[in-house]
Amino acid sequence: MSREALVFYSAVDDPAAWREALAAELPDLDFRVAPDGVGDPAEVGYALVWSPPAGFFSRFPNLRLVTNLGAGVDALVRRDDLVPVPISRLNDPGMVQMMASYIIFAVTRYARDIDVFEAAQRRGEWTYVHPRALSEVKVGLLGLGELGTPAALALAGMGYSVTGWSRSAKTLPGVTCLTGRDGLETILAGSDIVVVLVPLTRESEGLIGAAELAMMRKGAKLVNASRGKLVDEAALIAALESGHLGGATLDVFVNEPLPAGHPLWTTPNVLITPHIASITVPALAARDVAESIRRVRRGEAPLHEVHAARGY
Ligand code: GLV
Repeated sequence: MSREALVFYSAVDDPAAWREALAAELPDLDFRVAPDGVGDPAEVGYALVWSPPAGFFSRFPNLRLVTNLGAGVDALVRRDDLVPVPISRLNDPGMVQMMASYIIFAVTRYARDIDVFEAAQRRGEWTYVHPRALSEVKVGLLGLGELGTPAALALAGMGYSVTGWSRSAKTLPGVTCLTGRDGLETILAGSDIVVVLVPLTRESEGLIGAAELAMMRKGAKLVNASRGKLVDEAALIAALESGHLGGATLDVFVNEPLPAGHPLWTTPNVLITPHIASITVPALAARDVAESIRRVRRGEAPLHEVHAARGY
C-alpha cells in the first residue's frame, strides 16, 4: 500500500529542514518536494506551500488540507485552482517572535532617532538630538491579530504609548484598542509611528491611501510589514517627497522583488527590507503542521483555519 504523502513547495523555504522537522512529528508521512519529487499526485493528501505556481493544486485529486507556509493567505484565497479543502495558515512561536523583533526594531529606530544619526554619519556630522522618553512616542498599530497583538504588547511593555486598531473590538493590557473608521482616523492623526499589520483582503486593500497619509502627523513614520497592497505606493512616495511623512520602513511591496529602478529605491527616508520581517522556523512550526494533519485525519478542522469568506 502506498504511504500518505505531503507535497512541499516554496521558492524561499528549505525543504530539508522541513523534511527533518516533520519526520520527527509524523514519521509515517511521505514528504515530497515539488516540482521534481512529487511522484504519484494521487497519493498526495496534504500540501505545505508558499506561493506555488498557477495551476499547482489541480494536479492533486485527493488533497485534504492546504497549509500556507506563512501567516498571510491573501494570494492563496484568491486562486482559482484550489479544490474546496480546508486551508490553514502557520502561526508558530518563531514567527510571532520574529515579527515582534522587526516591529520593535523599526519603531525603536525612529523613536531613538537612529535614522537621523545614520544620515548624520553619512554626512560625517555629529548631530545631537536629545532623546525622548519612550512614553512620549505614540505608536499606532493597525492589526491586532496573531502577529499584531504580541507586537503591540511587546511595544507597550517597553514603555511606548501604544494604540491598536482591529476589525473587531479587542481589550489588551496597556494598549488602547480602537475599531472602525473613526478609530483608524484617530490613530492616523495621533501617532508618531503607524505600523501596518492588518491582513490583506478585498476590504483592506488600499487601506492607507493619499487621504489616510494626509491625516497623519507631519513628520510621522510608516512601517509596513504585512502586504504591499495595503498602502498606495504612489501616494506614499508623494507624501515622503513632500516631507509630509518623515520616513517609511517597508518590508513588503506591491511587486516583489521590488524591481530595479523602482522609485521607492531612491525615495528619501525609506528603509527597504526584502520581505523578511517574519518567516516560519521549521523546528518550531512543524508541531502545528503535524497537529493540523492529525486533526484532518480524524475528520476535524485544522489549526488556524482560514475563513474563506473573511479572507484570512
Ligand atoms: C509572510 O509574509 C507571511 O505571510 O508569513
